[in-house]
Amino acid sequence: MPEAGPATDTDPIFAKIARRYDTLNKVMSFGQEQDWRRRGVAFLPPGRVLDLGSGTGAALPVFGEREVVALDPVREMLELGPIDSKVVAYGEHLPFADESFDGVFSAYVFRNLTSIPDTLAEVHRVLRPGGHLVVIGLGRPPNPTAAKLHRLGSSVFLPAAGALIGASDEYRYLHRSLDKLPPPGELFSGHALTLDTVWRMGTLGFVYGAVLVKADVA
Ligand SMILES: C[S@@+](CC[C@H](N)C(=O)[O-])C[C@H]1O[C@@H](n2cnc3c(N)ncnc32)[C@H](O)[C@@H]1O
Repeated sequence: MPEAGPATDTDPIFAKIARRYDTLNKVMSFGQEQDWRRRGVAFLPPGRVLDLGSGTGAALPVFGEREVVALDPVREMLELGPIDSKVVAYGEHLPFADESFDGVFSAYVFRNLTSIPDTLAEVHRVLRPGGHLVVIGLGRPPNPTAAKLHRLGSSVFLPAAGALIGASDEYRYLHRSLDKLPPPGELFSGHALTLDTVWRMGTLGFVYGAVLVKADVA
């Protein structure tokens, strides 16, 4: 696997936690992280799908019969995955031909991207007309009081969970990153892909799912 290009700030974080990522993810989501992915995958068309920021390939069991290409900039994450087709690259520079995917899926990645506009432009380019992008993301609950409570909880719970695997700094980053992006309705408006559906999941609705569609040819 060739190198992805210059490293970003989060690359060393994911390289460090790669081996323990899946276990801790299960514990911290109380076993729900695969259900959240599954609900998103249900919106993907059949055919060829790009798993953008695939990490260890944890979503593979829910893709069904689709042909999956796994892409991630962090080799340590990608190497752990069971998917045959792996590409070391960033979402901002996708090494694929125009209109070469029926769907793109991305779970728990968008907070880590260097440029969301560049990534959305690249996804638009590689999707066929009528193709779907499905994003599963973490943020804060939509209700402001619930968001305050959630912020307080994650400031204690996430570094404590990270300490269990000797990575409290990395999980402190996770806590801070939950405030990094606006809610999905705002985040995904004004781009070439059209926001079609948004739903909420998890405690107080801190997990969102979003479906964006590339316009079909007339
Ligand atoms: C929280 S993990 C999620 C992994 C996987 N999607 C899952 O559902 O478990 C975030 C992943 O995004 C990757 N990532 C970070 N920056 C990225 C970028 N610019 N383009 C693509 N992937 C990126 C990280 O290397 C990491 O594997």
